[in-house]
Amino acid sequence: MTVIADLVALEQEATATLEAITDLESLAEWKSRFIGKSGALTRLSRGLGTLPVDQRPDVGRRVNALREQLEAAFVVTETHLKRTAQTAELTAERIDVTLPGRPLALGYVHLTNQVLLQVQTIFAEMGFHVTESPEVELDAYNFSLLNFPDDHPARDMQDTFYVEVPDGTPSVLLRTHTSPGQIRVMRERAPAPLRILLPGKVYRNEQVTVRSEMMFHQFEFLAVGRKITLGDLKGTLAYFAERMYGPGTQVRLRPSFFPFTEPSAEMDVSCFLCAGQGCRVCKHSGWLEIGGCGMVHPTVLRNGGYDPEHFSGFAGGFGPERIAMLKYGIDDIRGFYSGELRFLEQFG
Ligand code: DAH
Repeated sequence: MTVIADLVALEQEATATLEAITDLESLAEWKSRFIGKSGALTRLSRGLGTLPVDQRPDVGRRVNALREQLEAAFVVTETHLKRTAQTAELTAERIDVTLPGRPLALGYVHLTNQVLLQVQTIFAEMGFHVTESPEVELDAYNFSLLNFPDDHPARDMQDTFYVEVPDGTPSVLLRTHTSPGQIRVMRERAPAPLRILLPGKVYRNEQVTVRSEMMFHQFEFLAVGRKITLGDLKGTLAYFAERMYGPGTQVRLRPSFFPFTEPSAEMDVSCFLCAGQGCRVCKHSGWLEIGGCGMVHPTVLRNGGYDPEHFSGFAGGFGPERIAMLKYGIDDIRGFYSGELRFLEQFG
């Protein structure tokens, strides 16, 4: 009967040990110790052979019953421990969904580009094709081909950054205006009629002040065709002004001078703040100066590949920063490119 006594003792020990187990590692040890291939129960069942033959079936059944019992207890404990571990993990990883979120810093379109996008839309509505020309230019395109004589004081109107090029190419500069794009586009397209809008950066070697920056933007518009008149220029400007500043905005042209246009003009719009009554923004004149324009000079048409006997055109160049400054009452241009987010965010 020692085998039976051993069985009882084994059951008690295995059950008591199992109850004390709190982790899967100890459970694995318990399994190999009691019900593993070389565990206590296996060792005990090897002793069956020493029993009298008539006792063997009964003791054998008891051994099998205990194995089943311990295996079932193992599965129960294992399931329980795995669940407990999982719960602990989930608890540790729990996110407090009631915490308020952190706002993301979103980017937005720069004020200058907001104006340029609006300008592009308006000119596209009138059939103007938007394109670009190089910021690094040749003197010829920036000045000579635009009818600036070599020694003409008009060159002094725009202080120029010259660029030293490693291969020694002379007369390379940062364009001082978007007008050189006129020559490039005309040379590409002549003798086809064209309507072009050229937005982009321009550079001037100037003292940075509240009114002037070394880099700013312009957009150049150019139309060339067979019967283009000053009336077409005025009509284009009137449409632009109404779309940009609102219905009822008036346009006026004042005589001016540019080497590349004849006649030349400054375009004013009626003050959108006081509708021409006179206020601080328009300095009580009722008008705001927007930029230069005119009929393309015959020499410029010729330089672009168009015969001025048969072709005519109009052009103009305006500054989006100036348009934005008037619109928002900004009195210091330096805010645009100083990287001062507190300034720019106001227009996000
Ligand atoms: N390029 C001139 C400037 O930067 C602006 C300008 C005036 C452009 C008259 C034009 C024009 O196309 O016709 O001051």
